[in-house]
Amino acid sequence: MVHIYRLLYALFVLILFTLFGCKEHDKKLTSEKELPSKPIGLKQNYKDDFFIGAAVNDALIEKRDSLGLELLKTEFNSITPENIMKWMHIHPGKGVYDFSLPDAYVDLGERYQLFTVGHTLVWHSQLAEWVTEVKDSTELKEVMEDHINTIVGRYKGKIDSWDVVNEALKEDGSLRESVFYELAGEKYLEWAFELAAEADPEAQLTYNDYNLTNPEKRAGAISIVKQLKDKGLKIDVVGMQGHWNLKGPSLEEIEESILAYHKAGVKVAITELDITVLPYPWDLEGAEVSQNFEGSEFMNPYPESLPDSVQRELADRYQSIFKLFLKHKDKIDRVTFWGINDGSSWLNGWPIKNRTNYPLLFDRSYRPKDAYKSVLALKN
Ligand code: XIL
Repeated sequence: MVHIYRLLYALFVLILFTLFGCKEHDKKLTSEKELPSKPIGLKQNYKDDFFIGAAVNDALIEKRDSLGLELLKTEFNSITPENIMKWMHIHPGKGVYDFSLPDAYVDLGERYQLFTVGHTLVWHSQLAEWVTEVKDSTELKEVMEDHINTIVGRYKGKIDSWDVVNEALKEDGSLRESVFYELAGEKYLEWAFELAAEADPEAQLTYNDYNLTNPEKRAGAISIVKQLKDKGLKIDVVGMQGHWNLKGPSLEEIEESILAYHKAGVKVAITELDITVLPYPWDLEGAEVSQNFEGSEFMNPYPESLPDSVQRELADRYQSIFKLFLKHKDKIDRVTFWGINDGSSWLNGWPIKNRTNYPLLFDRSYRPKDAYKSVLALKN
């Protein structure tokens, strides 16, 4: 009798083993199969091509945006501060500096081992009010010396690349009449680059601007590069901001520009990439840019979600742009998105307030969009 029980028990164990043992084996096989054959994440996939960066806002720097931080860790290997290093924030009064957030930003870069960008030293916009009261070129030079020595000196060896001068050009390629230009003429460009190179000889130095694919403005940027190089000054990169849309600039214009900057002896970085899917006021025939479009349904066509057809169009546009970047990866140092995800993009508030835009690779819930997949697909 006891034998029969033993036999039954042994049978029972055998059945269990066969059932669950096999399951376990199957499970292993499936999960092995499911493992991606290629590395995941943008930064891993593009690691042999160029840095993949993102602009980071206060919430991210102060670690209040945990989902954003997660994405930063897995997808990106470079950061740019969206606002906190701009003159009005970092140097709000003459000789008065506020380094609290910039220090936290640089810490973030060090902790996550990111290629860390400084944005930006000399720019007419988001400037501190007091700088507009500078009287003459002598005082301007002193102010610039203090500004650049203090900031670049503080982060020597920690900021890998500086946007030394931002948006110095007008659309026709001539220099903008900023407070810097009014007081010192084109000399201020030389001062800025010379001071930055002295304060941190190892840092990469960039001239950064928008619409740099337009032939006239491109010629202007190239003449800045020439002017600096002729004076024996260091300029390493032209930063094409890359605030683009679904149609323009054309791939030909982007390619011609990459080639032209390369020929001028600098690297190219795409420093502020985003692709708006919303109409611009200046695209409308006869529209006054200053007109108030806030609340206009026509100007804010997708307040709830992006239609599939536009989602696809955005994905295709991103894919063709990245295909071009890959073709010229030997000339391109970095591609930085202007924000982590759609919800935090400045394009929800500019040039018209309170719109719902979809310009980046991650949606409002931090999920990858079709555009993300189309950019990754180029590497798989
Ligand atoms: C933008 C920021 O994204 C906004 O938050 C801010 O209100 C205005 O500036 N060119 C630049 C960036 O060089 O610094 C700008 O950033 C976008 C245009």
